Amino acid sequence: KYLQDDKLTQECEELLPSLPKEKGWVSSYLYQYRGFWHSARQLQGVVACQKHFEAQDSDIFLVTTPKSGTTWLKALLFALVNRMQYSFMEQHPLLMHSPHELVPYLDSKIYVENQTPDLSSFTSPRLFATHLPLVSLPQSVHECPCKIVYLCRDPKDTFVSLWHFANKLRLENMESNSLEDVFDRFCKGVSVYAPFWDHVLGYWKESLENPDKVLFLKYEDLKEKPTSQLKKISDFLGYPFSSEEEASGLLEGIIDLCSFDKLSNLEVNKSGKLSSGEENKAFFRRGEVGDWVKFLNAKMVARLNSITQQKFDASGLKL
Ligand code: A3P
Repeated sequence: KYLQDDKLTQECEELLPSLPKEKGWVSSYLYQYRGFWHSARQLQGVVACQKHFEAQDSDIFLVTTPKSGTTWLKALLFALVNRMQYSFMEQHPLLMHSPHELVPYLDSKIYVENQTPDLSSFTSPRLFATHLPLVSLPQSVHECPCKIVYLCRDPKDTFVSLWHFANKLRLENMESNSLEDVFDRFCKGVSVYAPFWDHVLGYWKESLENPDKVLFLKYEDLKEKPTSQLKKISDFLGYPFSSEEEASGLLEGIIDLCSFDKLSNLEVNKSGKLSSGEENKAFFRRGEVGDWVKFLNAKMVARLNSITQQKFDASGLKL
């Protein structure tokens, strides 16, 4: 259901023929829209939210490149902004629900399912996730003082994670994706919400020009120093931890609740499914930095590193 391109809106059907088109790895085709690649179904949500979504000042957007730790960021931000409501020991929503249910994707879930959704059940601050590149965010997100937390990851780990995920999710009638084939397409920038490097650079530049609007984070930093990164996020969002909260171990409690080991071993994440059909366990694989060494040969590493260096050279960004 999630992957199929049938039952598109008329607006989307009319848009597709005008867009560059390439074979997809998970869905049948990818279409290039404002410089980035999307499945037809995703595109329907993109166009609908650009047209209808109205951001509010207190909104928080979690923006990521696919497979850079979105599930983790969703859990962390949900636990962070709702920390007054829930006890960490029992009955926390994260113990019973996938982070993807608690923090839905704006374009690829909410606006795919309904072009004019009723968002009145969302309480402030509303948390929305998206993989949309900066150029495709709804205009109101740029115009109001809402916040964007951006997370990216070493492209080598991102690619390996994406390859595994794509093979789990691909349509039944599609062949399994060979590593070499999809690697080539990833390097050429033809994969969902890609080119990866342009996506990252868009938000990197925005975070430099507009540091109160965009907080730029890396998966590797979150892994290495979760406490300081969580404090940074809470300060940025205007939800700073009080000294009492820090002394009580609340930061460590949130980090522990959202850790890979904790979340991936919960029953809901081992055997549950999202309403869109994906198994929750598909979002938890290894959760490590540097897992790419097991999958990429020296030539592939050199190619990816050289693209990254070339693309990021003038920006000062290192991934
Ligand atoms: P790997 O495939 O390298 O294991 P996304 O959530 O954006 O789809 O990204 C999925 C990646 O994040 C997967 O990476 C997954 O294992 C990892 N991940 C999921 N939950 C995590 C957590 N709580 N902490 C660290 N990594 C996590």
